[in-house]
Parts: sequence; C-alpha cells; structure tokens
Amino acid sequence: MHDKIIIIDFGSQVTQLIARRVREANVYCEIVSCRMPLAEINLAGLKGVILSGGPASVYAKGAPQADVAIYKLGVPVLGICYGMQATAQATGGKVIRADHREFGRTELRVQGTSPLFAKLPKKQTVWMSHGDRITKIPGAEVIAESDNCPLAAVHVPKLNFYGVQFHPEVAHTDHGKGIIKNFLKSICGCKGDWKMGAFIAEEIERIRKQVGKERVILGLSGGVDSSVAAVLLHKAIGKRLTCIFVNNGLLRKDEAEGVRSLFAKHIGINLDYVDATKRFMTKLKGVADPEQKRKIIGHEFVAVFKDEAKRIKKKSGGHVKFLAQGTLYPDVIESVSVHGGPASVIKSHHNVGGLPADLGLGLVEPFRFLFKDEVRAIGTELGLSDAVVWRQPFPGPGLGVRILGDLTMDRVHVLQEADAIVREEIAKAGLERKIWQAFAVLLPVKSVGVMGDERTYEQACAVRAVTSSDGMTADWAKIPYDVLGVISNRIINEVRGINRVVYDITSKPPGTIEWE
Ligand code: XMP
Repeated sequence: MHDKIIIIDFGSQVTQLIARRVREANVYCEIVSCRMPLAEINLAGLKGVILSGGPASVYAKGAPQADVAIYKLGVPVLGICYGMQATAQATGGKVIRADHREFGRTELRVQGTSPLFAKLPKKQTVWMSHGDRITKIPGAEVIAESDNCPLAAVHVPKLNFYGVQFHPEVAHTDHGKGIIKNFLKSICGCKGDWKMGAFIAEEIERIRKQVGKERVILGLSGGVDSSVAAVLLHKAIGKRLTCIFVNNGLLRKDEAEGVRSLFAKHIGINLDYVDATKRFMTKLKGVADPEQKRKIIGHEFVAVFKDEAKRIKKKSGGHVKFLAQGTLYPDVIESVSVHGGPASVIKSHHNVGGLPADLGLGLVEPFRFLFKDEVRAIGTELGLSDAVVWRQPFPGPGLGVRILGDLTMDRVHVLQEADAIVREEIAKAGLERKIWQAFAVLLPVKSVGVMGDERTYEQACAVRAVTSSDGMTADWAKIPYDVLGVISNRIINEVRGINRVVYDITSKPPGTIEWE
C-alpha cells in the first residue's frame, strides 16, 4: 500500500496544484470535498492531511468549516490560507477582515528552525492572496512572518498542525515545492514511492482482476490519454480490447488517417473506425451557441458510440461488459466537481461522465486519479513514441469549439488547413515542447483585404498559442515575430477563405484557452 495524503478542498481554483506538487514529490494523494464526512473517506495509508485555500471568508454565510476531528486523526495537518484560517476559527482563534487585501509576491522571513522550512532560505518570496487575517491561534508558535502578516506561518504542536497564510502550491512562491516536500517527507514521514513504473504493474493487475474473462471497448480519440489507456489495456487483456474511434468530422487535418495507421499497423490493437461526419454535421447545422454545440456534440458522440457498442456486443455474443476511458483527474475535478467542492463549472467537458449508465457497461478508468504528466510518463514507459506522448491536448468537441458562428463542412476544411500551418510552423521553429497548445480559430468575422490588384472580403482567423503546465492557468506564448509572420503569410497565401490573421494575447484567467 502506498502512503496517502488527503487534500481537503475548500473550493480553491488551485487545489489541483496542491495535488500536483504532492505527486511530483512521488507521494500519492486524493482530493476530497470539505463537505464529505470524515467517516466516508478511505484513510488507508494516511500519512497527512492538507487543507486547501478557498474563496470564502470563514465568517461568510455558508462558508465551509473545518471539522475538528481532522486534528485527531493522528497525522500532521498543513493548512494553506483558508485552510489555516478555518483551523484558527475551529480551534478558538480569531480571524479578522484585513485593512487591505494582500495579493501578490511578498517577502517571508522564517523564524527559528521549523522542519517545514528545513534547508530553505531564511528570506524567501511567497505568493499571498487573502482578504482576512488571523490574529490568534491558541497554542501556535510563529515560524515565519511578513510585513503585513505577523502569523504568516505557524506550528501548533498540540494539534500537530502547520499553517501557512501564503500559497506554496503556486509557481510564484519560489520555494513552494521545497516547503511541500518538507511537509511530506520530514513531517509526515512519506517514503516517496509513488512511481509510474510501479503504477503500470499494479494497474495491469487491477484491470485483469476487474475485467476477468470479459471484453472491453474503449473510446479512442487519438489524444494522449485514450492512446496510452489503449496501450495499457492492451497489455493487460490483449485482443479482448476493442477501440472505437469515432470521426465526428471535427478532427484536425489528416488526424483520422494518422490514428488509424498508428493503431492498426504499429500497435496491433483491434480498432473499429466509425465515420460519423454526416450525423454530426446534420445535428450541428445552424447552431452557434457554444454550450449548445458542446451538448449536441457530446450527445451525438454518445449516440454513435452506443450504436457501435451494441453492434460489437452482439458480435461478441454479449461478452463486452466494460467500457474503458482515458479520463484524467483534472477532467473529473474541473467538470463535475466529483469531490463535491464549491469550485464553479466553467465549461461542460463532453468526455467526462458523458457515456450513460444505460450502456450497461462497467467503467474501466485507469487514469481517473492521474495528472497528464503522469500519463505521459506511463506512455513513454510503455514505449509509445514522443509524437503520441507529447501530442497537444485537443478538446473532445474538436474543431467544433474553434469555429465560431456557422458550422459547415467548408468552414471545417478552411480551419483544418490554417490549423495545420500553425502546428507545422511551431514544430519547425522547435517550439512544440515549450508550448502547451498552438492552433487556429476561425472567427465569425469577414474583413476587407487586397490581394494582387483584387479586393478580397473573407474570413478572419485567430492564432492561439499558450504556455501552461496543466491547462488550468495559461499565458499567451511569446512566439517570435518572424515565426508569427511566416504563419500569417502562409495562411493568407495558402488557405482560400481567410484574408486576415490575428494573434490572441489573452491569458487564462481571465480568458480560457479555447474560444468556446
Ligand atoms: P479551456 O478552454 O477550458 O481549456 O481553458 C482547458 C484545456 O482543456 C481542453 N478542453 C477540453 N478537453 N474535452 C476535453 O477533453 C473538452 O470538452 C474540452 N474543452 C476544453 C482545452 O483544449 C485546454 O487544453
């Protein structure tokens, strides 16, 4: 059994980052809602608890509270920002509204020799983001302070509690990783044995046990997650796996062929290819609203998949009993808040929980608790090429959410060509690994141009390229001007139907990566 850290989520948008930092230290962790009763949480292997930040003031109506039983579990507890304030409130301390919000980089001065800051500088930059301030926690020793925050970090020995008012999980806290690692290794005594090689062996065994002698179908999108899931399942159950690849007509240029040849020739997995372009395009005719599009694409995907599953089930004599999906932990958390936390839903991701219970199939989701970087490591370990493992994320609804306005086959072709140019030039410039995603978006805008001596009146396209480590937050990529120049020239010269190219310089937040 692996050591486990439970992260209790008070609704912060960056709770996932805490989980990533913990996993990066090779320690397994799970996020659970602050509303879940402690008695319902699987505490096997528990070595420590982390209380996340949160959007609320502890005194706000309905604000999530810390359960005092947390401090009696017999393991160390780390409270981050709201998690620390909630602890103060739950244990007889005092939290007040600060005169002004403290937001951004702040200098932290470490006091004494707490193991939380072992081997880290006495003065370091940390990221603060809070409106309330703690003035008292009973039994607390101050282990760090800042100008505006005398209780910037505390240790409460009688509760085995460490609290930090700043956010060690974000990249702007210079030694955040070190602080979290100190908590996990020195304070909780975690061994750090969560490694992907071991995960593969354990997961193969788990899948074999779950599936028994039955057959499994898997929805293959060609993306990293479902491709790696396919290879892992194939390793576990061989020919009893059939992958279903639905072409919804909204794929990138040459994508359908690429996926078919990769899986058919190189990996030797049963692949069932369904061209459902017509079905999708008929349903999407005249629909411009982003959420409606997402819902239709998701719904149609389910319908096609169900038909195909039925056909394969019949062919196998009823032996198909499971459906495998490459669902990742962030999909699970961001979409439906399965952990029940108060984080708000921004977009409906269609591939999550999208396939209905009436398929009559059990779910096999080997990556439901993993992050993308962990799945990439598994892909590499399983011998998949860099081209597959390092594929850019591509949304389930495909080009459907990158064509603003009318969704027609003509416009799909125009975007496919422009998008291929963007990706080609990014690869040529050697920027692929530095950029999280780079793609083109077709806008519902026409503008006037001049080509040769002719007036043109055609569509505009936006180039979107972002850097990110997880897709949760992102910055627009500072692509060299000459690369942008080549992209723009090539699109306008080579793609009929586009006469203007603009570059999107919006980060996330406040924007999102996709335009819809
Ligand atoms: P946003 O646009 O929400 O995107 O900033 C964040 C990341 O998620 C991808 N994305 C999706 N992935 N199904 C997916 O599998 C979806 O419905 C979906 N929508 C967005 C997006 O490409 C980016 O990497």
